Amino acid sequence: MSFLARIKKKCRRSLEWVKLQRESALDAQRYFRSASWAGPVKRHELAHIESDLIKHYHVLEKGLVMSDFRPRSGTGVLKRLIVLTSIWKEAGGRECEFHFQAALAAIKSYHRKHQDLNIDVSDLIPAKFWDEEDAITTEAGSKLPNELSADDRARFDQLALSRHSVRQFDLDRVPDRDLLTGAVGVAISAPSVCNRQTWRVHFYEGAAAQEMLSFQNGNRGFGHLIPMVAIVTSDMRLFGGGVERYQGWIEGGLFSMNFLLALHARGLSSVPLNWSRLNKDDRALREAADIPDHERIIMLIGCGYASADHEVTCSPRSPVSNFIKWH
Ligand SMILES: Cc1cc2nc3c(=O)[nH]c(=O)nc-3n(C[C@H](O)[C@H](O)[C@H](O)COP(=O)(O)O)c2cc1C
Repeated sequence: MSFLARIKKKCRRSLEWVKLQRESALDAQRYFRSASWAGPVKRHELAHIESDLIKHYHVLEKGLVMSDFRPRSGTGVLKRLIVLTSIWKEAGGRECEFHFQAALAAIKSYHRKHQDLNIDVSDLIPAKFWDEEDAITTEAGSKLPNELSADDRARFDQLALSRHSVRQFDLDRVPDRDLLTGAVGVAISAPSVCNRQTWRVHFYEGAAAQEMLSFQNGNRGFGHLIPMVAIVTSDMRLFGGGVERYQGWIEGGLFSMNFLLALHARGLSSVPLNWSRLNKDDRALREAADIPDHERIIMLIGCGYASADHEVTCSPRSPVSNFIKWH
């Protein structure tokens, strides 16, 4: 390589490094503006308290299912959770909100487990913490696992192996909202850190779907046939601390996979569409799509009914041994 070529290569690398630093700084800035630590932002106060409620009631739940369950363990977490329920109400949070109810249910489950063991926890849980026994509308705490038949287990492989990305849709058949809601209902069974469930899905159909696709760079040749677009995002307000900076992408990916399979199980086809873009493109899509600053776009998903006689790519997978290293 000539001297000049070497200099050019070095300059190109340096430029790419600067660009990467800039994009990473912009990602970090937006995360910092949204996530709940280092002096929470007032406008996100309720979301931050909600995140804290979830974290605490989930730790309490986990304590209840440990094989070496120790009575009266987790008292610090329980006390803080009880304080958080007051903080929530003082900040204007409604008692009917899902995670407030789940927090009450987890405390109640803790109480019940101790009651069953004849262990007094009245010093930990204030008297009349619940107005009425049946006022709590959510299930939380510990329970027995769901049953699954051998047939159910075998069907999963079939379902997963028969899903393919589809790029030929019947433009005239727009998926029914109930069907999509059902698919999201299954997709939210995805695991998430401390069960914080930061996923959001924004749906666009027809002309709006086409507008969203105009921002995406991987739908050339088939985008015009997509009747419905879902934009999967993660609400960064529910994360806390620099350590969780990548959590949204991880969980958004898990959710999206579940959603693709749930669509497939309902006879709907889909194509995941990358959102690997610069921050300026991200801002433009969020503006057009009416997605707030605190939601991180994970990917777009085109969905609908596959057109008759459509074909799919083989997208061959390497041998399974390539993916595994036993230690
Ligand atoms: C996050 C993600 C982004 C993708 N982006 C695109 C895209 O922009 N355009 C496209 O045609 N396919 C896209 N795909 C689909 C992949 O090409 C496809 O999943 C892969 O070839 C495997 O094929 P299969 O989905 O049929 O199993 C994407 C897939 C993923 C998971």
